[in-house]
Formats: sequence, C-alpha cells, structure tokens
Amino acid sequence: MKTFHAIFGIHPTASAEAPGRVNLLGEHTDYNEGYVLPVAVPQTTRVLLRPNEGNIFRVYAANLSQFIEFNMFAMPEEHFGHYIYGCLRQVEELGIDVPKLDIYISSNVPIGLGLSSSSALEVAMLRALRELLSLSLDDVRIARLAQRAEIDYAGVYCGLMDQMASSLADVDQMLFLDTRTLEYRKLPLPAGTEILVIDSGVMHTSASSKYNERRAECEAATKLLDVTALRDITDPSRTESLPEPLYRRARHVVSENNRVLCVHDNISAEKFGQLMNASHESLRDDYEVSIPELDELVSILQRQDGVYGARLTGSGFGGACAALCEQGAAQHIGRETVKLYNHPGRSGRLLVPRPTE
Ligand code: GLA
Repeated sequence: MKTFHAIFGIHPTASAEAPGRVNLLGEHTDYNEGYVLPVAVPQTTRVLLRPNEGNIFRVYAANLSQFIEFNMFAMPEEHFGHYIYGCLRQVEELGIDVPKLDIYISSNVPIGLGLSSSSALEVAMLRALRELLSLSLDDVRIARLAQRAEIDYAGVYCGLMDQMASSLADVDQMLFLDTRTLEYRKLPLPAGTEILVIDSGVMHTSASSKYNERRAECEAATKLLDVTALRDITDPSRTESLPEPLYRRARHVVSENNRVLCVHDNISAEKFGQLMNASHESLRDDYEVSIPELDELVSILQRQDGVYGARLTGSGFGGACAALCEQGAAQHIGRETVKLYNHPGRSGRLLVPRPTE
C-alpha cells in the first residue's frame, strides 16, 4: 500500500483514527428516539492530512488505490469522496476556514458489510480536522457533524447510532446510549463473554430504500398514536390499535427499546443472549428486515455450544450477524459456523474476532 509520502511527496501534519461498530441490541430504535447498545470493532479507518498551499483538495484512498481532486464548488463523483466533502462542508458551515488539503485514507473496516465503514471514515476525517485546526469540538459534536455529512452528502437518512459509536465506543465496553437525550454510559460485556461477528456475504443492496420505508412507517405510526416518537410508548399493547403493517413495526420498536432497558452492569450472559435471540425474532417477524441467509446464519450460531445468543446486526437485508459467545471460544465458533453456512454460492466470513491466518 502506498504511503502518504509516496503519494504527496511530503509527510502529514495531522492524523486520526476511528473504529467501525457492531450493534448488540437496539436495532431500528435510534430514529425513533430510543435506546441502542453498540460496541466498537477492532477494525479502524485512519485519515492523514496536510495543508497543500494549492487551490484544490487532493484525496488518496489507499485501499481502493484511487486518487481524486475537487474543490468545494462541486461534490466529487466518487462515493468515498462524498463523505470527505460532506465533512469539510460541515466544518466550513461552522464558520471555520479550511485550507486546501492533501488527504490520505486507509482502512481495514470492510465496506458494505454492516460494520459502518462510513461512520468510521466520517469520524476519522472530522477528528483529523479537529487536530489540524485545533477545533474545540467534543466527541458528541463530532458524531452529530458526521451524521449530518452522511444525511446531506451521502444521501442516507440515518439515525445517530453509528456515528456516536465510532466517536465514543470502545471495543471492550458497550455504549448504552439514549438517542433522545444523548446521555450515555459504558457498560461491561456480560462476565465471561466475547463478541463474534460474521458477514453473511450478502451486501445490503436494497437496504437504503427499505430503510427509508421503515422510517416512514414509524413516522406514520407515531402520528396515529399521537406521540412525539415511538420511544414514548413502553407498553406494547398500546400499538394494537394500529393497522398492519404499522402495528408490527411499532411493536418491534417498543419491544426492542424494552430489551435494551433490561441491560445493566451485571446482566448474565444467558439473559443477554435471550434478549439477542428475541431481538432477531422481532426483526424477522415484526420489522421484516431479515433475509433467509441471515436467518440461517443466526440459527446456525444459536445451535453452537458456547453461544449465548445471536441476531442480525445493523439495518438488515444483508450484512452481518452478531453473537455473544463464551470468552475464548468466538474464533473457533466463528470458523465452524462459516463452514456450516458456506455451501456453494455462499461467501460468509468471520469479521470479529479478526481471523487469524
Ligand atoms: C443503520 C443506520 C443507523 C440505525 C441502524 C438500524 O446502521 O445508520 O442509524 O438506524 O441502521 O438500527
């Protein structure tokens, strides 16, 4: 992989990193002002910067071996450029003068597999700008700017979970986040456990149109129930008056929020696993964001010795599954699960723990 110096002939003056994330509980709750529980994954994205004294931004994406140039009058065509451009615009809109920059991106967060490579890139870029320009932006502010960059310039009408996770979460603690108040706490993983994440090999291609459809259904349910957000309902029976499919959509959000609220400092691995299994059922049957491949992967995982619970993670329609495993067992369980899942035509693979050669 070429270095910053090899591309730009000089060394960078600022650098920053941010991780991807995996969500353990609280799916499709963030845009309903509810609760989420992500952890950071070990894979990270790194951004290196240096002002270039020219009149153009130059960006090199090392993993794609792609080089682009742009100015702020027009967004670059390349998809990864949208995130960079979006972050620069967010900072400029704060009234800050951003010099033209040479920007170098490298990452081992897989793209399009549900580990939120986009929020890792946005948060790393904003952190690098914070360092270079000595901006007084705290981590919550960084997450909010990253979310705006994603909505306004990458065109994904997302909630705030992914950017908050990239900005605030650790790999060994869960980030318990209230997406309405943005209050958060770090909780230990259930004692004696570790996280396993497996990619189903199915890219979530239809994800963004379906995602927007689910958001619209939640908004319709919110209006009919006359509440500010579905988060305001705690009793699932209150959703019974809604017509289908709004009834099941709302029931998922209410039950999912209740599941996150069951989690506390000393929750047992067994209880946490049950919550994950129930979350998958609800995502499959009520929210209808699963696909047969994810259901199969989850059911293989749930049958393995040493697995407390498993569910699809992220927006669904492809992407990855997460499982809570006995500490020390995830690597082995992951390999066995991938073998059972990968009959011809399947390309599932272990993402976390990082596969050993
Ligand atoms: C995507 C979005 C998040 C969240 C999840 C579903 O990852 O970016 O904001 O809505 O889907 O929980």
